[in-house]
Amino acid sequence: MEKKWWKNAVVYQCYPKSFQDSNEDGIGDIQGIIERLDYLQDLGIDVLWICPVYQSPMDDNGYDISDYYHVDESFGTDEDLDRLIGEAGKRGIRILMDLVVNHTSDEHVWFREALQDPGSEYADYYIFKEGVDGGPPNNWRSHFGGSAWEKAGDNRYYLHAFSKKQPDLNWENPKLREEIYKMINYWLDKGLGGFRIDAISNIKKNFQAVTFEPDGEDGMCFVGKGIANQAGIEVFLSELKERTFQPHNSMTVAEANVPEELLDHFIGENGFFSMVFDFSYADIDIPQTGEWYKPTNWTLQDLKRNMFHSQLETQKRGWGALYLENHDQPRSLNKYLPEGDINQYSTTMLASLFMLLRGTPFIYQGQEIGMSNILMDSMDDYNDPATKDQYQRAVNSGMSSEQAFELAGRRSRDNSRTPMQWSDEKNAGFSGAESTWLKVNKNYPEINVASELKNEDSVLNFYKKLIQLRKSGKYKNILTEGTFVPEETEDQNIIAYRRVSAEGEILAIHNYQNKESKMVLDGSGSWDKIFSNYGEMRTEGNHIILRAYEALALHCTDNCK
Ligand code: NOJ
Repeated sequence: MEKKWWKNAVVYQCYPKSFQDSNEDGIGDIQGIIERLDYLQDLGIDVLWICPVYQSPMDDNGYDISDYYHVDESFGTDEDLDRLIGEAGKRGIRILMDLVVNHTSDEHVWFREALQDPGSEYADYYIFKEGVDGGPPNNWRSHFGGSAWEKAGDNRYYLHAFSKKQPDLNWENPKLREEIYKMINYWLDKGLGGFRIDAISNIKKNFQAVTFEPDGEDGMCFVGKGIANQAGIEVFLSELKERTFQPHNSMTVAEANVPEELLDHFIGENGFFSMVFDFSYADIDIPQTGEWYKPTNWTLQDLKRNMFHSQLETQKRGWGALYLENHDQPRSLNKYLPEGDINQYSTTMLASLFMLLRGTPFIYQGQEIGMSNILMDSMDDYNDPATKDQYQRAVNSGMSSEQAFELAGRRSRDNSRTPMQWSDEKNAGFSGAESTWLKVNKNYPEINVASELKNEDSVLNFYKKLIQLRKSGKYKNILTEGTFVPEETEDQNIIAYRRVSAEGEILAIHNYQNKESKMVLDGSGSWDKIFSNYGEMRTEGNHIILRAYEALALHCTDNCK
């Protein structure tokens, strides 16, 4: 098998709870995914990442695992999962599972034992500390709000970077690490393509600085300060790789906001992972402290700068994972486009901007048909614990409930977790149940797979063409290996870049605005149009005329500067 087989892959991310329900209980399941494999094969993807399907009380929709070895009943059976791996394989699709090893569920048997008996060996699988002055050990605030410590006895607290039902594991304990490696190898031996690895930069904790300066109205400080990318993490990550992924030649994509100086270790030639997700332009709309209710005033120039910077820094070191959406983000159309400008052109322009970059693209379910954010009626409609927390924090900071609802909703993770829109039938073809676990977006009669398959100019067919382009004989190597080179443009609202390899050069141009513009094209070279989302390309002398939100890709056939 080729060593870096994942470089030319296109990945599709599936949120099983919302993809396809096969047994009419309103919740998506593994059999449902199997039924949609032909669709995914036709789309042209090579790898399918499925969010966690392990046994879980579902406090955080499966990111709270109570048994790493078995499938949760709501998703089906262990045999269903084996069948999914086999059926996907027959279609040339490899499965990536989610690996959640920063924490377990508080209902995992290890934690139950640890809680019950502080003297048990399992107590050392987690992080317990003594409280201070009648309160928690320090002022760390969890990702989902409130103290990152939960009381577990008289003056005994345990650490949870996420919800209190997600206690953090103690990676300092070699016995725990062995348990984790055994579990990972169990799954890899089943023939998985690899893993998407959750919250992995948090596994090393630093308790030297106990209490930090508060960074919020609650007097607390973001837990990341004490647990993200702490010195010594590299020892755990090398061991993890050597004992598991490396011998299997797995694809690994880490959810890790890595500081530039550490990037080499993460994604360099002998890095810990195949690639990492970078947050620099996904989180452009919120402050680093993660408060959704304090949206930033980002501009197109910020987006361009962050995107280019991320491309340039990543290519200096290794390989990157590209994404516009995932299950933790709102829909990209609502994030990256002005409200009145969401249409066929702007949607396909975003698709092109993203799909021609250097790295492995991850397409999130529904992104390929242009799904958008949902308008909920009240806070009761939300399921996501983070949305509820952000709403509360906004209210606590003095905002009106209407404003807090609007701002928490705009960024809510439930925007991307609504059921997949397959058709204009009941529940968008997702489920035959009376109601679904999360509301279906009301726009499904217009935005759905069935109608887009019939329309040659649909967003879905545009995505298909982009995927094919990355795989086609002619452009494959340029779009895989080609260096990313920013293209200077006079009009700053055009985002253009080249992909340059020994085999040729592609120029990708995106007129990121709702008005016509133009760009000078070097007259001495000769360029072939690969595509425009408007169909024909317009030129005037040595200028290209770009219509509102036009995306244009050109192939240099001779002497281009
Ligand atoms: C990141 C996952 O993507 C998110 O959905 C989850 O809530 C946290 N990690 C905790 O596991």
